[in-house]
Amino acid sequence: MKKTGFLLFALTCLACVQAAAQQTSVKDIDRKVNELLAKMTLEEKIGQLQQRAGDISTGTAVAKDDLMSQIRSGQVGSVLSNTSFENKIIMQRAAVKETRLGIPLVFGFDVIHGYKTIFPIPLAQAASWDMGMIEQIERIAATEAAADGQDWAFAPMVDVSRDPRWGRVMEGAGEDPYLGSKVAAARVKGFQGSDLSSPTAVAACVKHYAGYGFTEGGRDYNTVDMSDQRLREMVLPPFEAAAKAGSATFMNAFNTLNGVPASMNKYLVSDILRGEWGWSGMVVSDWNSFGETIVHGAAADETDAAAKCLNAGSDMDMAGSTFQKGLKNALDKGRVTKAQIDEAVRRVLRFKFQLGLFDNPFVRLDPKRRAETLEKPEYRQFSREAAAKSMVLLKNEGGILPLTEKSPFKRILIIGPYANSHTNKDYMSFWTLGLGMRYYDSTKVVTPAMALKPQLEALGFSVSVQEICLDATCTEKDLSVAIQAAREADLVIACVGEEGLNCGESRCVSDLNLRDNQEQILRVTSRNNKPTVMVLFNSRPMTFQWANDNVPAILVAWQPGFEAGNALSDVLTGKVNPGGKLPVTFPRSTGQIPLYYNHLKTGRPQEIFGTMWTSGYLDLPSTPAYPFGFGLSYTKFAYSDIRLSKSQISLTETLEVSVDVTNTGGLAGDEVVQLYINDVAADIARPVQELKGFEKVNLAAGATKTVTFKLTAADLSYWNQNSKRKADPGKFTVFVGGNARDVKSAGFELK
Ligand code: NOJ
Repeated sequence: MKKTGFLLFALTCLACVQAAAQQTSVKDIDRKVNELLAKMTLEEKIGQLQQRAGDISTGTAVAKDDLMSQIRSGQVGSVLSNTSFENKIIMQRAAVKETRLGIPLVFGFDVIHGYKTIFPIPLAQAASWDMGMIEQIERIAATEAAADGQDWAFAPMVDVSRDPRWGRVMEGAGEDPYLGSKVAAARVKGFQGSDLSSPTAVAACVKHYAGYGFTEGGRDYNTVDMSDQRLREMVLPPFEAAAKAGSATFMNAFNTLNGVPASMNKYLVSDILRGEWGWSGMVVSDWNSFGETIVHGAAADETDAAAKCLNAGSDMDMAGSTFQKGLKNALDKGRVTKAQIDEAVRRVLRFKFQLGLFDNPFVRLDPKRRAETLEKPEYRQFSREAAAKSMVLLKNEGGILPLTEKSPFKRILIIGPYANSHTNKDYMSFWTLGLGMRYYDSTKVVTPAMALKPQLEALGFSVSVQEICLDATCTEKDLSVAIQAAREADLVIACVGEEGLNCGESRCVSDLNLRDNQEQILRVTSRNNKPTVMVLFNSRPMTFQWANDNVPAILVAWQPGFEAGNALSDVLTGKVNPGGKLPVTFPRSTGQIPLYYNHLKTGRPQEIFGTMWTSGYLDLPSTPAYPFGFGLSYTKFAYSDIRLSKSQISLTETLEVSVDVTNTGGLAGDEVVQLYINDVAADIARPVQELKGFEKVNLAAGATKTVTFKLTAADLSYWNQNSKRKADPGKFTVFVGGNARDVKSAGFELK
């Protein structure tokens, strides 16, 4: 008792000391910032608000004046997308040694799924539902990026999206705001670590604030129009979670939100982010998004745009020249005040202090650290584990997987455009920019064939590889090769999907179907009862209805990164029992988009396909091919009925929801136990289901675990008609299961 008391006291005191130290350092930084600000000319201040593009372009053409002379004349506060380590040293030296005030530059970069060691795409990471793993991925990415001179990652992208046509769906955590919030916080913590000034930390930049994932037609940069309720409940929660996790910066979005471009959206930036959430960091525009307010027709010229963006609360101009051309005019015309400019500059300077750049401008530019840090074997090992944990098994009829010594097949054919690809950034994405090259160095990626062939041969299989359909589409010639090769095999592993370069910014599609005639590969290899395992390399939900109906095994591998082949081999041979679960709904057809699990109840829900006067299609059920949260394992899990601690709770009470989950199969495995709620009768229509908790459990064969979730009134509340977050008393249903569709349910009441 005494010991515990002392320990508590000691811990509390430690917390007091830490809090006090933090307070001092915040005050100290603010004092230094103000001292510096007092010395700055207006031109130098505007210079600090300017971010210039480095040696690679990640957007539209922008003015490319001589960067070095701009740095020397104090016109640049930050440089983005610069891959050369040596050049960053040269630029930093110029900034600190050759400018009047010696203010260091801050280097920003898109660190999307790894930096030098490439991990699975963020959407895949979310499919692991493993927050510890996600945080660790970003820790590694940050360590590498920081060692290579980057101070600031333009990530995480926390945009919830319900439209897989949108190319950037791969950068987020899927369609759910609750899962998205957990992932957002984990990623921020991973990037920033516990001390932003550390040489292994990079600042996070939460993007794209806000609404970008709801772009009309799934087209990048397009209009976003939504109710405040949708904004508050579906879009903002991950942003708020990231702000609370301490993200140092936010990035504006390209889109308009209800007519107002996000970069000049005062409601978003000043009222909600800085006002309601009390967040005090720095907001950077997206690539020339200040300038694009003019193209949107929401600003007349640079002066107008600069005034509107600064007035909204945005601070730094990425890649454009709007502030440089318009801010002084805006001040002269009384459209903005000196105090407003000072406040934006203060945020930039504070950010640089927090990053440790004033203490040591070369804190992340140490050649020795760089040489010791990049591409460590343990990072690759972690990438392999992460990729395997992200894969989602959609079908495994007859238990044909895993492939082991006991499998009844002897001859295996690995076939398809992604069997052994060495081009187009396959198994990765457009965003692997840290590699510093447009097309990846093929020696770095382990392709499926490279790993699977030897590993399956070691198990006694005879394995052949056929790369087909390498040029744009599967031709008759490709298919005849497939027919011939399949004849000589007992089982086919078909590696199909999309190019790595087909995902990311500006890579939207109008059709989610397997492109380039790839379905024909599955059709011909499935002939003569040859079982086919379809392995999908994808950056988004895709549609493959013929395969759903005819192919016995389907594995979603996503774009897995450098360790694609090894991770795939681990899963197909059962070394890793798949435990990934879909963070997005997989539709049957593109025409169903948007299709998401947490939709509102309609007045005429369709329970049976074809029922007249219900909400459905004549030609297709309105249900998905695979629901949110879905994923199989090589073992099976059974759920007990739900036990509730009470049948009624008050606004201040907590409800405990328990289930027993049993591994009823013969192998150890992971299960993501998911908790959903539904407000049966609220003041307005509510979603049919909303995720409110999950727990990933690992169970040995035959083992049972009781999983208990806690629900409070906060979990039951929603953004109501009076613009307040409140819970309506009345009936609720709670659901627990291994995906959104296959659930147990129970009812309770909120008094
Ligand atoms: C535009 C993208 O929308 C954003 O996500 C990215 O960080 C910047 N370009 C910089 O590359």
